[in-house]
Amino acid sequence: MKIGVLTGGGDAPGLNAVIRAIVKSSKVKYNCEVLGIEEGFDGLLSPVKVRAMTPWTIRGILPTGGTVLGTTSTINPMEMTKKIDGKEQQVDLSGELKKNVEELGLSGLIVIGGDGTLKIADNLYKLGVPTIGIPKTIDNDIPATDVTFGFQTAVNTATEALDKLHTTAESHHRVIVVEVMGRYVGWIALEAGIAGGADVILIPEIPFQIDQVCKKIVARYEQGSRFSIVVVAEGAKPLGGEMSVIKRSETGYALRLGGIGNKVGEEIGGCTKMDVRVTVLGHIQRGGSPTPYDRILATRFGVAAMDLFAQGRFGEMVCLKGDEICSVPLSEATRGLKFVPADGERVRAAEALGISFGR
Ligand code: F6P
Repeated sequence: MKIGVLTGGGDAPGLNAVIRAIVKSSKVKYNCEVLGIEEGFDGLLSPVKVRAMTPWTIRGILPTGGTVLGTTSTINPMEMTKKIDGKEQQVDLSGELKKNVEELGLSGLIVIGGDGTLKIADNLYKLGVPTIGIPKTIDNDIPATDVTFGFQTAVNTATEALDKLHTTAESHHRVIVVEVMGRYVGWIALEAGIAGGADVILIPEIPFQIDQVCKKIVARYEQGSRFSIVVVAEGAKPLGGEMSVIKRSETGYALRLGGIGNKVGEEIGGCTKMDVRVTVLGHIQRGGSPTPYDRILATRFGVAAMDLFAQGRFGEMVCLKGDEICSVPLSEATRGLKFVPADGERVRAAEALGISFGR
């Protein structure tokens, strides 16, 4: 067996722990070779960018953030833009990719990525490239797994930020609005908001009414809490309104979200007349060392993916159900997004504490 490993899409803490688990278990359990594919699917297009990975070459990467293989958010081999006769045209290079996989002598690929990357992996599998998926994203939006690695580290980072912002907000009697990532779902905002003692949490799944948000902040002020912490998911939107988009992606895959924190901050300033500051946490949530939980989950995913590979169970993705590592067909894994249930237990628990979702 010769295994090709690649990481696609945005990075998430724990990617290197998965790579390490694949490389180590491939040697210890199966004594086979691993080729690391650099720069996502781009590394499998001509000229290929690959390198041999052994337990020696990956030593020390377990606690590191990012990906040692490099990653790219935009490369979809089935929808590449090429200049033909001076004109930009969309071409499908999956045939070239498949040929390169064969020429490299790979028995198949282990693809580590979020929903976009996993969809490509599923399409490649359907075209005859033996592929196994591992879910990854700080957003935790993949429905087929209870949790993705990277999510807990992002929640940790956001919670630490909220703890710090609390002390300065209180000292200055300010409202601090914190915009967090999560794309179209509100998991990071919800969990960091609860863990960090937020007063208001705004998530895409519960369109907010700004007057409800202001009512909460004013009520706190009148009761003697002259500061408030408002956590806003980047995908949050007002009732009847739209998400705040910075840029529409050229590939049509994902919108670049951002700006809602500032809009909410401005409106709160207007209606409460309080001093408001806005902090956008941004990519700090994606960087840094994974938490022990994410290192362990990533390690378990890597070992399980290697086992699926050895059993020839291509077209599947590893996942977590309860405390068990299982697998599901890749096609099922990439169907839709996992949203926060608007009336689920977590949201209700937060509301029971008096946290406002602006509804
Ligand atoms: O999907 C992970 C994520 O960090 C989202 O939370 C965020 O919207 C997006 O990626 C940012 O993407 P980029 O790094 O391309 O700006």
